[in-house]
Amino acid sequence: MKSAIVMAAGKGTRMKSDKTKTMHQVMDKPMIGHVYDNLKKAGVENIVVVVGHGAQQIKDYLEDKVDYALQEPQLGTGHAVMQATSLKGKPGKTLIFNGDCPLVQPETIQQLFEKAQDAEFTLLTTVMEDAAKYGRIIRDEQDHVEKIVEFKDCNPEELLVKEINVGIYCADNELLWKYLPELTNDNAQHEYYVTDLVEIFKKHGHTVNAMVASDRDEMIGVNDRIMLDEASRWLKRHVNRKIMSEGVTLIDSENTYLSTDTSIGTDTVVYPNVVMEGHVEIGKNCRILPGTYLKNVVIGDGCTIDSSRLTDTKIGNKVTIGPSSHLRNGCEIADEVRIGNFVELKNTKLGYNTKCAHLTYVGDATVGEKVNFGCGVVTVNYDGKHKFHTEIGDGAFIGSNVNIIAPVKIGKNALLAAGSTINHDVEMGDMAIARPRQEIKKGFGQKYKDK
Ligand code: UD1
Ligand code: CA
Repeated sequence: MKSAIVMAAGKGTRMKSDKTKTMHQVMDKPMIGHVYDNLKKAGVENIVVVVGHGAQQIKDYLEDKVDYALQEPQLGTGHAVMQATSLKGKPGKTLIFNGDCPLVQPETIQQLFEKAQDAEFTLLTTVMEDAAKYGRIIRDEQDHVEKIVEFKDCNPEELLVKEINVGIYCADNELLWKYLPELTNDNAQHEYYVTDLVEIFKKHGHTVNAMVASDRDEMIGVNDRIMLDEASRWLKRHVNRKIMSEGVTLIDSENTYLSTDTSIGTDTVVYPNVVMEGHVEIGKNCRILPGTYLKNVVIGDGCTIDSSRLTDTKIGNKVTIGPSSHLRNGCEIADEVRIGNFVELKNTKLGYNTKCAHLTYVGDATVGEKVNFGCGVVTVNYDGKHKFHTEIGDGAFIGSNVNIIAPVKIGKNALLAAGSTINHDVEMGDMAIARPRQEIKKGFGQKYKDK
C-alpha cells in the first residue's frame, strides 16, 4: 500500500498573506492541488494532509478527496508527521511530502518509491549551486547519507555543502511510527524536525538511501512570492514543452498558459495570450487565436476559436467561434456550427451546421440542425424569478432582432420575421410575424429637415 503524509500546517510567514501558504496558486491551481494531483498520478492510494494554519481553506479546496490530520500548535515538520495517526499500523511505504513542493512530478515520485524498495528510509536530494536556506545533506567517507543539518544549525563547513534536502522522504510505515517518538526539539528552532529521522533510522541499524534528482528546479520549496513566480514559470515551460513534443505548435510559448490537465491534438496551433484552466481537451488541426480563455472544455477537430471565452462547454468538429463570444454553463455545440462575434450562449445545445453569427444571446435553449439566427436575437429566458426553456426545430429561420419569450417552441422550418416578439409556439413550417405595421406619413421627413 502506498500512503502519503502531506505537511501543510505551517503558516508560511514569508508569503506575507492571509492565505495559508499551500493555497497560493502556481500556474493554474494552488500548490496543494498540484501536490494532490501528482501523488494521485504516481499511484498513491491514501493521502493524509496535515492542516493547521488556514486548515479550512485547504479543506474547502480538497474536500473529501483526502483524509485530514490537525496539527495544533505547529511544532515543526516532525511534529506534523506525528499527527497523521490514521496511518498507524498500516503496511507498506509512506511518503512524507512537504506541501510547498508543487513541481515534483509523478514520474519522480514513482522513481522514489522504486528506490525505496532497497531501504527502510529514502530521501530525495538534489544539488544546488546556491543551497540557500535548504537543509544540507551530510555524507560519510563511504558517501552514505549520515544526517540532514538544517540551515540554522549548520556549522561553516556544513554550509558549504551543495547537496540539499528536498523535503520528500519515503519510509517503511511501521518503522516510521515506531521511531517518531524518538524525535526531540533540541535544535536552533526548538522544533521537531522530520529530518532527524535519518539519524534515528541509522542508529537502529536500518538502511538510509538518497535519490539524487537531476532537475533541481523541479525540487524547489516555495517559501515566498518570488519562488512562487519561479515555480509557475518552471511549470509553464514543462507543460508547454510536453504539448509541443506531442505535435502542437505554440506560436509564443512564453505567453501561452495551458493547464496541467490539457491535452491537444497534432497540428493544432495556439497563438499567444491564450489561457486554459481545468480540464481542457482540444482536437487536431484547430486554431486557438489570441485572447481566448478556456476552462473545462472539450473541442473537436478542425475548429477555430477566436478571442472568446468558453467554460464548461463541449464543441464538435469544424466549429468556428468568435471573435469575442462567450459560451458557458454546459453548452453543447454540434459539428460545423458557426458562432460569430459577440454571441453569448448559456446552457444551450446547437445542432449540426446551425449558424449564429452576430450579437445574439441564446440561453437555456435546445436548437436543432441548420437553424439560422439573424443579428441581435434574444431568448428571453428569465422573468426575474425563474428560468424558462426555448426549443427551436431543425431548419428554422430566426430573423434579426427577434425576441423569443420562453417557454416557447418553434417548429421545424418555421420562419420568425425580423423584429418580432414571439411569445406563443410556432408550428412546423409556419411563419410568425409579431410587430406593429409600418405607417407612411407622406413628405414628413423632408418637412422636418427643412424646419
Ligand atoms: C524543510 C526542511 C529542509 C528542507 C526544506 C525543503 C525540515 C525541518 N526542514 O525546511 O531540510 O531543505 O524543507 O524545502 O523539515 N509544516 C507543517 N507543520 C509544521 C511546520 C511545517 O505542516 O509545524 C509544513 C509547512 O506547511 C510546509 C512544510 O511543512 O508545507 C515545510 O515546512 P517549511 O517551514 O517550509 O520548512 P523549511 O524551512 O522550508
Ligand atoms: Ca519550505
